[in-house]
Amino acid sequence: MALSLILFSGVNAQDYEYIGAKKCKMCHNKPDKGEQYNKWAAGPHAKAMEVLNAEEAQDAKCLKCHSTAGAADEDMLTDYITVEEGVSCESCHGPGSVYKNLKIMKSREESMANGLILPTDEVCRKCHNEESPNFKGFNFEEYVAKIAHPYPEGWDEE
Ligand code: HEC
Ligand code: HEC
Ligand code: HEC
Ligand code: HEC
Repeated sequence: MALSLILFSGVNAQDYEYIGAKKCKMCHNKPDKGEQYNKWAAGPHAKAMEVLNAEEAQDAKCLKCHSTAGAADEDMLTDYITVEEGVSCESCHGPGSVYKNLKIMKSREESMANGLILPTDEVCRKCHNEESPNFKGFNFEEYVAKIAHPYPEGWDEE
């Protein structure tokens, strides 16, 4: 049972690859749409590798939560994502190689059918938990507010 679950998720995982924050930036950094890339870049997740020293930055035990690329299976990585970009878009929104396509992205339903995640509490708690040597507790509403990067109200009205 456990084995078949692992095999099954393995098959799914191979469909999607990590493309890195710069690819998302191409479409998600417009001021009138909320500048998601700039907001992320100014926040804690983009700096998650900067808080590690040189030795820790090589340590899989730390990379697991401090870097999207550092935590991912190697066969899901592209050349576009770097370990140094820290915790980037795809740790929360899922690997984007398929949903990044404009036609797919325009539909929430299709995006989600192609790997896009709109993260809940559970996604955050993969890293915000007691396994972290510096765990400070986690409250979803409070923490989401600190990293919020929404579309401005009325962005899709003419
Ligand atoms: C080719 C342009 C393009 C690229 C590249 C792209 N997106 Fe999008 N994305 C869109 C468009 C268009 C929408 C629909 C809303 C809008 O018009 O901005 C969207 C919507 C979204 C939404 C909101 C979904 C919803 O229904 O609430 C998320 C989250 C998102 N994108 C994340 C990402 C991430 C993460 C990446 C990189 C892995 C990415 N996008 C790459 C164009 C793009
Ligand atoms: C289970 C995920 C997880 C692991 C494993 C992990 N960290 Fe972290 N780390 C976090 C989170 C989440 C934070 C943010 C603090 C918070 O809000 O709980 C953080 C914050 C930090 C900080 C910032 C200082 C602070 O007090 O906020 C340092 C330094 C750090 N971690 C070092 C490490 C080192 C070194 C390792 C490897 C030995 C490591 N972490 C392993 C998740 C993790
Ligand atoms: C892949 C691991 C990972 C995931 C998933 C993740 N985080 Fe984090 N988060 C971190 C790390 C590592 C830090 C510490 C970065 C630093 O110190 O610069 C952090 C820091 C933060 C901070 C700053 C905390 C402080 O003490 O100032 C907030 C707020 C935060 N995360 C919110 C969230 C929310 C909300 C989610 C889910 C939507 C989430 N995180 C998902 C790894 C993660
Ligand atoms: C720490 C987790 C985390 C990271 C990293 C992250 N996001 Fe998000 N993102 C969220 C959460 C939580 C939401 C709100 C989801 C919802 O509305 O249900 C969100 C919403 C969005 C939306 C939709 C905004 C709206 O108003 O509907 C877009 C677009 C988006 N993110 C793009 C990005 C891009 C691009 C990056 C990287 C540059 C990124 N996100 C990085 C957690 C994250």
